[in-house]
This record gives sequence, C-alpha cells and structure tokens, in this order.
Amino acid sequence: MRLAILYKQLSANDFKVLSALEKGLREHEYVPVEIIVGRTRLPEHQAYLSLGKLNRLKLIKRYTGRYVGYKLTFRGLDCLALRSLVSRGIIEALGDKLGVGKESDVYLALTPTGIRATLKLMRVGRTSFRQTKRVRTYVEGGSPSSWLIQAKIAGEREYKALEELYRLGAMVPKPLGWSRHAVVTEYLEGLELYKVRSLSDPEAALTMILETMRIAYLKAGIVHGDLSEYNILVTPEEKAYIIDWPQYVYRDHPSAERLLRRDVDYVVKFFRRRFKIQVSELDALRYVKGETNGIRRS
Ligand SMILES: Nc1ncnc2c1ncn2[C@@H]1O[C@H](COP(=O)(O)OP(=O)(O)OP(=O)(O)O)[C@@H](O)[C@H]1O
Ligand SMILES: [Mg+2]
Repeated sequence: MRLAILYKQLSANDFKVLSALEKGLREHEYVPVEIIVGRTRLPEHQAYLSLGKLNRLKLIKRYTGRYVGYKLTFRGLDCLALRSLVSRGIIEALGDKLGVGKESDVYLALTPTGIRATLKLMRVGRTSFRQTKRVRTYVEGGSPSSWLIQAKIAGEREYKALEELYRLGAMVPKPLGWSRHAVVTEYLEGLELYKVRSLSDPEAALTMILETMRIAYLKAGIVHGDLSEYNILVTPEEKAYIIDWPQYVYRDHPSAERLLRRDVDYVVKFFRRRFKIQVSELDALRYVKGETNGIRRS
C-alpha cells in the first residue's frame, strides 16, 4: 500500500501504539504486549484493536513465542516521522516516489507554502554498515530493531551535515526539516550527473563540485565519502549539487584521506571520460584540501 494512503488510515490511538513501540526500541527486539498496552494509557481493548490493525497494515510485526510482543517496522517508523513533519508544518503532502534504493526511499513532497521538497526515508544498507562500528555502542547485540536505530542516526547525521554545509554556502539541497530517519530538503530540478550527456561549460560544473568538496573539507571539516556521478545533481542552469551525505566522515577520521582521494578521483575521472576535461587528480585534491587556490587545466 502506498505510504500516503497508509498514513491517512491511522487514528490518534494508532499513533499512541506506534509511539509506545518506538520507546521500546532500545530495550527489546519485540516489546512485550503488556508493556506496550501500559505505555499507551489506552483502555486495553482499544490498544489491542489498534495492535491488530497495525499488524495487518505491516506497520508493526507480531512475535509469538515465549511471550507475545511486537516490533516497529520501517513502515511504522515512516508514519511516525511523517506525522511529526506534518504537525510541525515542514511538509503537507506526499507525492510520487522518486527513487528506491538500498539505502533510502525518496519521495516528492510539498511544503505548506507549496514549495516542492524531497522526503528521504533512510533504510539500511551500505551507509549503515559503514557506520556499524561507531553505532554499536548504542545497540547491544545488534538485534534487527537496531536497523531502525541506525537509520535514525543516519537521518540525523545527514540533516546536520546539510544544515552546516548549506549555511557555509556549499552547493547542497537546502535542508527543510528532519524527524527520526526522515530528511526533508528542497527539491532540485535536475538530473544525476551520470545521465548528463553534454554541458555547455563542463569545467565550471567540475569547479563547482570541487568547491563544495573544499568547503566541506576546510570549513565543515568533513569528507563526503560516497561521491560519484550518482550523488551529483545537475540543474538545467548547469548548477551542480552534491547530495546524499549520511556516510560522511570527519577530516581527522583514519579513513578520511583515503575517502577524499577516492571521491576526488571518481569525479575527476568522470569529467575526463565524459567531457574531456583534463584536470589531474592531484591538482584537484590539492585544491580541495586548500593547498592551492585554483585548479590548473593540464
Ligand atoms: N533534493 C533532491 N532533489 C531532487 N532529487 C533528489 C533530491 N535528493 C535525492 N533525489 C533523488 O533521489 C535519489 C536518491 O537520493 P540519495 O542519493 O540521497 O539517496 P541514496 O541513499 O543514494 O538512495 P539510493 O540507494 O536510492 O540511491 C537521487 O539519486 C535523486 O535522483
Ligand atoms: Mg545516492
């Protein structure tokens, strides 16, 4: 069922049950049903009714074994995040799905003032695996509900990074809000770089990308870590934006240097291959690191 339709079927009681389950996320894989019912402060029969409904809608998952319990699913977490974003006036309507990936589902959305936005709902995948070591202190044993916790951490990371980068004037989509694993940014009318066949000024586009990497490195102190022609959006005016930041690492991270080199290499090689721009990886790297103030075209 589509997320917007699913969301509209939920009552205040249903949200009380989802919230109660969310509170148990760190304590149990499956929260015992008595604990959930107690936390909702609802009359017992109403809480059970809602649990049945949410289970049918797959917003929660039932466990029957040594005890009866439930856990929140990603769909359930989506609905909690949506409710928070809607009630805070960050988004008002949900549109088509823009993309489904291993790491996120991205939807078109509208703000209350009618501005087009994107809603990115984190899933687990590469990003989370990369973060696993750091995150493990939060999640004993790494039970599957830890995926939800890791997705929430990824959401917060991406939002905070975007906020800082945007404030510093880097070319990233403007962040509009965040809840749990959901990040809302302005919608960019554009194409992923890998789909762009020609540019009137490819050199300017490359410079724009390297400038954003330079601001990230020198001013925000971070390295994207997953940069490629898939995480760059180019608008019809040929403005190039870097998206998809949750896996960033700090400049002093042991892998930062290696990741920065890789990010630079991917971008420079892509521009050489597709647009015949002759900039050396080393020159680009030195520019991003602030060792030079311009890029020579060799
Ligand atoms: N601000 C935006 N404006 C327009 N489109 C966007 C925006 N943010 C994301 N998208 C679209 O959604 C896709 C996925 O976004 P993003 O790269 O942030 O997520 P991801 O974790 O890589 O997800 P996936 O695994 O689906 O690639 C992008 O490639 C782009 O097409
Ligand atoms: Mg991406």
